[in-house]
Amino acid sequence: MAAKIISGTEIAAQIREELKKEVSEMKDKSGIIPGLVTILVGKNPASVSYVTAKQKTAHELGFYSIQDDQPEDISETDLLNLIDKYNKDPKIHGILVQLPLPRHIDEKKVLNSIDPDKDVDAFHPVNLGRLMIGGDEVKFLPCTPAGIQELIVRSGFETSGAEVVVVGRSNIVGKPIANMLLQKGKGANATVTVVHTGTKDIASHCKRADILIVAAGVPGLVKPEWIKPGACVIDVGVNRVGEKISEKTGKPVPILKGDVDFDAAKEIAGAITPVPGGVGPMTITMLMKNTVKSAKLHAG
Ligand code: GUN
Repeated sequence: MAAKIISGTEIAAQIREELKKEVSEMKDKSGIIPGLVTILVGKNPASVSYVTAKQKTAHELGFYSIQDDQPEDISETDLLNLIDKYNKDPKIHGILVQLPLPRHIDEKKVLNSIDPDKDVDAFHPVNLGRLMIGGDEVKFLPCTPAGIQELIVRSGFETSGAEVVVVGRSNIVGKPIANMLLQKGKGANATVTVVHTGTKDIASHCKRADILIVAAGVPGLVKPEWIKPGACVIDVGVNRVGEKISEKTGKPVPILKGDVDFDAAKEIAGAITPVPGGVGPMTITMLMKNTVKSAKLHAG
């Protein structure tokens, strides 16, 4: 039987509706408006389009939102001072510095200068440490892993006691999602294996997975014979494999391919995320969720 297709587009829209309601109630009851600033250095076209999408969503949810564009040649000191200004601004609950930054700026120094309690990307070491401890310590979950967890839970897959295999050990997906799923509690409590470029036989691990999460950045890496029949497959890969002309706009758009051989895998898996339309739409939504949470935490 063909797999159920897990629509990130639909689940993200559902969560955004929930958030919109929550924001409206917060405003009415306590006058609090979640505030988000997105800082963009330079004009990298992909970054411009990501930041525009983030601002558009923030606006739709009723946030107080600022798009702060800075020139490519801004000094590191000026950028750090700008972040400090937003760290101290009580109307701002979330600060996002769009990556990548120009080469003359130390990315780590910049990310570490964001107040961890306004770090809605959850890239700060303090937030990664909180995530590792788990439970009440956690303030913000990194957006892509949080989106993956929501997709699994809202699709009705039981994580408790499940064999989860994560392919890839990046700091923004593989390591955090592995940590999140091994915590105690709802949407977690799994037995987690992380495989990577140093793993001897990746396929043998994948074949045991009840839930297979692939974030390797290699188009079509996971073959159908690596998938356990009925498994839940989450494909985080967004690989540009060419260009095509959009039927809607007549302009060239990238052809995107996931890390899983989707057409073959959907005949074996129980459920699978498509690319695009799977994990991608969840990431911005979870950024919004973190900003709403931050506004609440700041209100005390
Ligand atoms: N660049 C690409 N993805 C991201 C993201 O999730 N956060 C930030 N800050 N920059 C990015």
